Amino acid sequence: MKAADLFDVTGKTALVTGASSGLGWRFAQTLAAHGANVGLAARSVDRLEALKKEIEAAGGKAVSVSLDVADESQIPASFDAVEKHFGPVSILVNNAGMAVSKKALEMTREDWRRQMDVNLDGVWYTAQEAAKRMVDADIGGSIINIASLLALRVASGLSAYAVSKAAVKQLTEALALEWARHGIRVNAIAPGYVLTEINRHFFESGAGDAMIRSIPQRRIAEPHELDGTLLLLASQASGFMTGSTITIDGGQGLTLGA
Ligand SMILES: NC(=O)c1ccc[n+]([C@@H]2O[C@H](COP(=O)([O-])OP(=O)(O)OC[C@H]3O[C@@H](n4cnc5c(N)ncnc54)[C@H](OP(=O)(O)O)[C@@H]3O)[C@@H](O)[C@H]2O)c1
Repeated sequence: MKAADLFDVTGKTALVTGASSGLGWRFAQTLAAHGANVGLAARSVDRLEALKKEIEAAGGKAVSVSLDVADESQIPASFDAVEKHFGPVSILVNNAGMAVSKKALEMTREDWRRQMDVNLDGVWYTAQEAAKRMVDADIGGSIINIASLLALRVASGLSAYAVSKAAVKQLTEALALEWARHGIRVNAIAPGYVLTEINRHFFESGAGDAMIRSIPQRRIAEPHELDGTLLLLASQASGFMTGSTITIDGGQGLTLGA
């Protein structure tokens, strides 16, 4: 089989959370460019509409849905809206996430809670909703959780974020174990630094220069460098992979904490 066929997702319905910016924007474009019909979910619906137009102009299909993943009551309706257009979701990219950079002594209860609500509870509720529907429709599927290198390592000022992402990695394994019997694969991507809204200030202010020098490849990633791993996990190319967390970090994890 040719690589293009192996990684093809034509006709599949995908839902990408946090599609209004950064990695989620790119993930949605990539899935659509390879044939998937994509549900674009986030709170900023105006930005989702702009992405929808971009995808359609390139010949793809997308629908935008308003979703705050921290509000579990909104999750079923977002799946209903995507299903109405494209049928049941068989690829979920659990990408919505946020970070509050604060030293642990200064962190408030709200800072901690917010990161857990979005980064962990949001992933859990969205994955559970997707899996229930995949089981009901008997279609199996692929759930891709976006963790972080900080699921495996720690960094100063990012304790809550690191804990939430470590929990996402553990959740990925626990769900993979339970849902394999339903033909649902659950894997995670653990990116190192990729320039997006979440870290733009840090890298553009020069504060990130020392960090970049500590990365073996001496640079941060561009969003397109995650395309191959996304398509691998979304498609049958990874049919026997479940519970894996794939690190994409220019070698940074080899040096942190050494
Ligand atoms: N960039 C990196 O270096 C890096 C590295 C490792 C991991 N990651 C992870 O990759 C994912 C994407 O990050 P990014 O770099 O693309 O950041 P970003 O540009 O800030 O985008 C974050 C996305 O998450 C959405 N979001 C935030 N809170 C949400 C909520 N409550 N409900 C729904 N959507 C929400 C935002 O949309 P709205 O504001 O419109 O809701 C936005 O689309 C995150 O999980 C992040 O932790 C990023």
